[in-house]
Amino acid sequence: MKSLKSCFVIFLLFLGCRPGIKQEQISMKQDQHSFSKPDHARVTHLDWKATVDFDTKTIQAVATWNVETAKDAQEIIFDTKGLTIEKILIDNQPAEHKLAEADPILGQALSVSLTPDTKTVSISYKTDPQAEALQWLSPQQTADKTNPFLFTQSEAILARSWVPCQDSPSVRFTYDAEVTVPANLLALMSAANPKEKNSTGVYTFTMKQPIPSYLLALSVGDIKFHEISQRSGIYGEPSLVDTAAWEFADLEKMIAGAEELYGKYRWDQYDVIVLPPSFPFGGMENPRLTFATPTILAGDRSLTSLIAHELAHSWSGNLVTNATWNDFWLNEGFTVYFEHRIMEKLYGRDYSEMLALLALADLHETVDDLKAKNLYRDTRLKLDLAGRNPDDGVTDIAYNKGYFFLRLIEEQHGRDKFDSFVKDYFNENAFKAMDTDGFIAYLKNYYLKNYSLTIDDSFLNAWIFTEGLPANCPKPVSTRFKKVDDFLLEWRNSGKLDDQQGKAWSTHEWVHFLTNLPDPLTESQMQALDKFGRFTDSGNSEILTAWLTKTIEYQYTPADARLEDFLIHTGRRKFLNPLYKELIKTDQGKKRALAIYSKARPNYHFVATNTIDKLLN
Ligand code: BES
Ligand code: ZN
Repeated sequence: MKSLKSCFVIFLLFLGCRPGIKQEQISMKQDQHSFSKPDHARVTHLDWKATVDFDTKTIQAVATWNVETAKDAQEIIFDTKGLTIEKILIDNQPAEHKLAEADPILGQALSVSLTPDTKTVSISYKTDPQAEALQWLSPQQTADKTNPFLFTQSEAILARSWVPCQDSPSVRFTYDAEVTVPANLLALMSAANPKEKNSTGVYTFTMKQPIPSYLLALSVGDIKFHEISQRSGIYGEPSLVDTAAWEFADLEKMIAGAEELYGKYRWDQYDVIVLPPSFPFGGMENPRLTFATPTILAGDRSLTSLIAHELAHSWSGNLVTNATWNDFWLNEGFTVYFEHRIMEKLYGRDYSEMLALLALADLHETVDDLKAKNLYRDTRLKLDLAGRNPDDGVTDIAYNKGYFFLRLIEEQHGRDKFDSFVKDYFNENAFKAMDTDGFIAYLKNYYLKNYSLTIDDSFLNAWIFTEGLPANCPKPVSTRFKKVDDFLLEWRNSGKLDDQQGKAWSTHEWVHFLTNLPDPLTESQMQALDKFGRFTDSGNSEILTAWLTKTIEYQYTPADARLEDFLIHTGRRKFLNPLYKELIKTDQGKKRALAIYSKARPNYHFVATNTIDKLLN
């Protein structure tokens, strides 16, 4: 890697011979969600030595950072949130530091004095028991109920609550770690991982590919490994790891399929860990080790597109990384596109078009919802999240408007052209940050140079910088959903629900069925539906959530107990959000929501409570 100093020289030369070029195209723009100033002094490598203590719910650690400095550097700035800083050494000598006042979203800037010759900054610190990235689970909150569990969730800006870091997606570093945990537990990171427990409880890790801080991850628990292929496998609690390995049996095929599409997998190993149910997301693309919710263990392999999604991030996001959280669509839009392509390759167009139609339905709903909430500006792909929590940008806009935008470029000029563009885009920008302007420049230049095609600015403006969904949005066609639609029509006409019909349906068809039911539904129709699909007893969280939304709307009381149980035992925000939202539409429902929430809240991760607290207030 070039040193920062030589970068500055090149930068000056570059300015000299290219008068008029905009400075932000070369130097780094300030990330609104990080206090760090990587242009002055930036980290390049982390050596992390940590002890995980379940009794006090704290991590005691020393983070030693290798740094690169500009020629006039006087300080380096780290992001922290809730950390107790105990001691700081600069090249092994005690150093002065300053911890700024806390910002409720961003936390505290930690400035450490240094000189341009400084090589390492070593920070001894302790995390807070309430650290936002960390969830400490009691044995009762795990699948096996015998050992405690800890997992982290760093994206978007929570890494700073467990490691003092330059918490900006544009700053990359490699890392080594030595982590001490209770001797009966295994520790895993977003790095080269152990496959089994040892008797000491001390585990070492290396991550040789440079990553941004939001991809730092740690998981500690009674965890076993089940190999799928030479370079892939499943981690999970002993009682579910084999079931999970069955569910994700196509993992190696997915990796190979992804490689055929867009180039070699560059992280060596690809594993998935199935976490306890309070994990707030469906999945998190921690490099080499995707973190996943157990709610995708449907028993019929029907929810594995989530794994395709997290795997796809190994290219879109982890290799080519959104430069700031305003460019989040570059991570997620590309990943949804890639996910659908993997699913199409493995299971056919008929399958992936179901996913596309569900994505379109969600997208329409999100656009309407943001409009109603006076947040219409958040329907642009390029966001402006200054002064706000980057979590506000985590909507279907980034995911699905991003997806349909890329799909439209594919459809307009052909798949072959688009595929070479995507492959080259990943390769040429590997291990780098990309912002929206950089993407536009790359795209336009690529199509012009290689195909003599001009991509219109008005087209790009309409999709990227304008609110709403443009009229030229692609329209997926699904023959499988068409059959569901016909079935619904027949039910309306004849009043009969033929039990045979649903037998061959996948989760997606059931969800499409439930979200397209006629409105309103009578008590006896709800009963007939429940008998037809056995929804209240369903163990499939996607189907259950779609059904419970209806049971709340139509006050179908036989599902009340199931709803409460589900909300208490699942922490995935995607399911909590629509259910609590539906509940608070009536006064009586709001009371119920608050009563359930008081029992359920202790089971949720910060990411979920932060959302639901706001919703219920
Ligand atoms: N990277 C995201 C999760 C995320 C985004 C965490 C922003 C924190 C901030 C992950 O790849 C993701 O998109 N997960 C989705 C699943 C996917 C299939 C749409 C989820 O968790 O629902
Ligand atoms: Zn994603």
